[in-house]
Amino acid sequence: MDTLEVAVVGAGYVGLSTAAALVACGHRVWVVERDAGRLEDLRAQRVPIREPHLAELLFAPSSQVCFTADLGAAVRASSVVVIAVGTPPTPSHGADLSQLYAVLEGIAPLLDESPRAIVVKSTVPVGTHADAAATLRRLAPQASFAVVSNPEFLRQGRAVRDAVFPDRIVVGADAPWAFGQMRTVYSALLEGRAALPATLETQRPASRPQWLEVSPHSAELAKYAANAFLAMKISFVNEIANVCAETGADIDEVVSVLGGDARIGADFLRAGLGYGGSCFPKDTRALSTMAAKSGYDFRLLRAVIEVNAAQRYRALERLERALGGLRGRTVAVLGLSFKPDTDDLRESLGVDIALELAARGATVRAHDPVAAQAARGVLPSGMAVSDDLEAVLEGADGFVLVTEWREYLHADWAGLGARMRQRVALDGRNALEPALMRAAGFTYIGIGRATP
Ligand code: UGA
Repeated sequence: MDTLEVAVVGAGYVGLSTAAALVACGHRVWVVERDAGRLEDLRAQRVPIREPHLAELLFAPSSQVCFTADLGAAVRASSVVVIAVGTPPTPSHGADLSQLYAVLEGIAPLLDESPRAIVVKSTVPVGTHADAAATLRRLAPQASFAVVSNPEFLRQGRAVRDAVFPDRIVVGADAPWAFGQMRTVYSALLEGRAALPATLETQRPASRPQWLEVSPHSAELAKYAANAFLAMKISFVNEIANVCAETGADIDEVVSVLGGDARIGADFLRAGLGYGGSCFPKDTRALSTMAAKSGYDFRLLRAVIEVNAAQRYRALERLERALGGLRGRTVAVLGLSFKPDTDDLRESLGVDIALELAARGATVRAHDPVAAQAARGVLPSGMAVSDDLEAVLEGADGFVLVTEWREYLHADWAGLGARMRQRVALDGRNALEPALMRAAGFTYIGIGRATP
């Protein structure tokens, strides 16, 4: 009774993870993608992005999914249309909504008197739902539809897990029937009866998702607020780590005390070089700009952004001091993707740090177990980029660990150190064991970790 036809427009990590969750809920899902290569991959049961569990769910024998370029067929068949296209940043820190409006213009002529929920999953500035509804109304005055804001809180690398086990499902709508329709979309998740493979079933949390019906304005703002808050936690802990470094306190110990308070929460308190990726940098800047445009100076958020921008350079200064200058030194940059288990290089701290070290006169060799190939297109052609850790460290004077790939955590640092000219380690994620690194002959620099 609960089975719906749902169109998901956009086969990026949000669209595909959402589609996977909807398939697990038992719906018939049309994934609409205009990129021919991506579509061909999906039709051949190849997942075009690195995201655990996607293939298992999308290509399960029971899965009722169809990959198509035909927006018309998908929308005509569906009572719910989920838009999950990119909203990349504009040079003025706004959101580029051209892909969203292109989809709305494509959808409008297909709408008719049968009611459809047009669900915006992409992260969009507050008020976009009203502009989207006005656009559809102008192009399809007779059509029956409701524009719904249904933000996602998916982390790359855990997106499918987050999609099937959300903490909360947020639905912003003006029309009461739209809330009912969205409840049907998610009923299997809300009632804990989605069909999941054993690999996911074992990760099922104890509690069911919270169901939150709010206004579309609130839903749109809540997405930015959630990311800004998490970014604030990271900048806060990084500032505490900097105070630790100046005062002799130890960030690991301080965080164990902080995180032990349920009101603060232990998550997102890992000190390091700062946050990167396709979401936090873009969304914090967009919210700050949005607030400024509305006449409000969001001072705390501006500070979060400033602290994040400065953090990486502060750490590099410590490396520079330990090496007695960077000119003529060879430094390895370990980790280029913005976090482990993804090959995404957007707002990559590793890339930024590699460029900065080179600008300060170091010879840079960059390493990433997964994103090395992609990074070659981003880093200067003369810079060595490899997925071979031994080769990258051979004869180097030091390294900066930027992304905490498992490969680094379990490396034989004594053996690798023996290949280096000098052993200086800047652990930009506090991911290595300081005592082991020192025992392996390294001068170890952490972020706010006390030096015995
Ligand atoms: C983030 C949010 O966590 C998701 O909830 C949200 O849905 C998503 O953005 C989005 O807006 O689409 P994501 O960018 O995939 O997800 O990555 P995170 O795991 O949140 O990490 C972001 C950055 O923060 C990384 O560079 C990571 O290294 C850094 N970080 C994270 C820290 O420096 N310290 C921490 O304690 C946690």
